[in-house]
Amino acid sequence: MGNRLAGKTALITGASSGQGAAEARLFASEGARVVLGDVQDKAGEVMAQSIRDAGGKAEYRHLDVASEAGWKTVVDAIVATHGGLHILVNNAGVSLRGVTLETTPMADWQRLMDINLTGPFLGIRAVVQAMKAAGGGAIVNTGSTAGMNGHFATAYSVSKWGVRGLTKSAANEFAPWGIRVNAVHPGIVETPMVAGSDDFLEAMAWATPLARAASADEIATVVLFLASDEASFVTGIDLPVDGGFSASGLYRRVLLRVKESASGRI
Ligand SMILES: NC(=O)c1ccc[n+]([C@@H]2O[C@H](COP(=O)([O-])OP(=O)(O)OC[C@H]3O[C@@H](n4cnc5c(N)ncnc54)[C@H](O)[C@@H]3O)[C@@H](O)[C@H]2O)c1
Repeated sequence: MGNRLAGKTALITGASSGQGAAEARLFASEGARVVLGDVQDKAGEVMAQSIRDAGGKAEYRHLDVASEAGWKTVVDAIVATHGGLHILVNNAGVSLRGVTLETTPMADWQRLMDINLTGPFLGIRAVVQAMKAAGGGAIVNTGSTAGMNGHFATAYSVSKWGVRGLTKSAANEFAPWGIRVNAVHPGIVETPMVAGSDDFLEAMAWATPLARAASADEIATVVLFLASDEASFVTGIDLPVDGGFSASGLYRRVLLRVKESASGRI
């Protein structure tokens, strides 16, 4: 157990699974009181119990991030029960692969915007009063490398590009209160979101300089840094956590292709 988040209360969305669960475990192991929010209630309760069994402070609360009323209920309860809220991780998200821009159903477009983009927007609005009262806070939004490039899944990509604008605008607006807002942009991460997509995982690894997918724990350590006081002068940034995919994945693909060519010369 460490103490990098000692004395802090953190709300993590989408914490019943994948990266959110890894972040909840890590934050609790660093001394935070962790509130896990999700719509998968059973898995969330089990996750919170396993953190308590390991000696951490954790509780699960049902939170649909697309619901403004849901956010109010959860944040009010946290403040009433624990006296404040210092960290928000907007991690909950859903993907949509296998459709083109032309074939994306309107209902799916709207669902992705509601959860991936409106969710973090509502979350920031819901927590800032408590953070102002606490004298500051840290918010970490989860984007994606799909929000740093043109992408094959337009609705997902657009929702994650939006997270970047939200991050920078909120960082600007809330800096006077000592509230920092940053974004992480994972590349490919082995979680239930991509489970079973073996060809996709393999192709992403091929296009990634570090040549593999990340574990959820490798994303969580970066989110921990941004959420902690160690990042006290960091706000408004987009931080790719992607094995080099967005920095030089394109040139890696060029190099691999040239090496396969007749001349092999670059
Ligand atoms: N796995 C990847 O390769 C990858 C890559 C880049 C970005 N991301 C992003 O990382 C984040 C975490 O995803 P993950 O990989 O851990 O996937 P995951 O599917 O394991 O976890 C997502 C969690 O969000 C929850 N969720 C979905 N809709 C919700 C809602 N309306 N309200 C509250 N919770 C809701 C789910 O129940 C689930 O527990 C997402 O924002 C995702 O878009 C994932």
